[in-house]
Amino acid sequence: MILPIVAYGHPTLKAIAQPVTPDYPELGTLIQDMWETLAHSEGVGLAAPQVNKSIQLFLVDGNPFYPDYPAAKDFKQVFINAELLEASEEMEPFREGCLSLPNIYEEVMRPNKIRLKYLDENFQEHEEVFEGIRARIIQHEYEHLQGHVFVDDIAPLRKTLLQGKLRAISEGKCDVDYRMIFPRKKKHR
Ligand code: NI
Repeated sequence: MILPIVAYGHPTLKAIAQPVTPDYPELGTLIQDMWETLAHSEGVGLAAPQVNKSIQLFLVDGNPFYPDYPAAKDFKQVFINAELLEASEEMEPFREGCLSLPNIYEEVMRPNKIRLKYLDENFQEHEEVFEGIRARIIQHEYEHLQGHVFVDDIAPLRKTLLQGKLRAISEGKCDVDYRMIFPRKKKHR
C-alpha cells in the first residue's frame, strides 16, 4: 500500500524517532509499504517519520542515481536503529532533495565517509563503513530520525531565502504527483 508522505513543517518530521523493537506491530507490512511508497515517488530513500511513524527505521534504494553514480547501483537496504559511530573530517557538497520538500534542491555539506551500526530487517546487527553517494543517502535519512531535514543544514541566508517556498509546501501549495499530508493546509469550504 502506498502511504502518504508528510510535508515540511509536520510535527512528526520534527520529533526524535524512537528505537524499534522486534515486536513492533506489523513491522514487515510497514517496511513493504515503505518500499512501495519509495518506488512510487521515485526517491532514493525514505525514513519512517516521512510516513508519519516516529521510529528509527529508514530504507534506501540508490538505483535511481545510477548510472550517474555507479556506487548507487543495487544499494537497496533497510536500516533499523542505526547509530552513526564515526564520520570523516573530509566533507563533500551535494545537491540534495527530499520527498517531504518537493521541488527544493540545495547544496548540503556532509562527511564523505561514515561508520554505521544498524540492524537489518531481520534484526541482525551490522557495523559497516559507507562512503560517497551511499554515505550521502544514509546521512540524509538518518537526519530525519533526529527531527531534522536537509534545509536545516544549509547556510542561514539560503534558508531565509527559502522561507516562502517552505511555507507554501507546508500549506500544500506545491506541485507534486504523490499523495502528501500537509500540516498547514486550509480545509476547503
Ligand atoms: Ni528526506
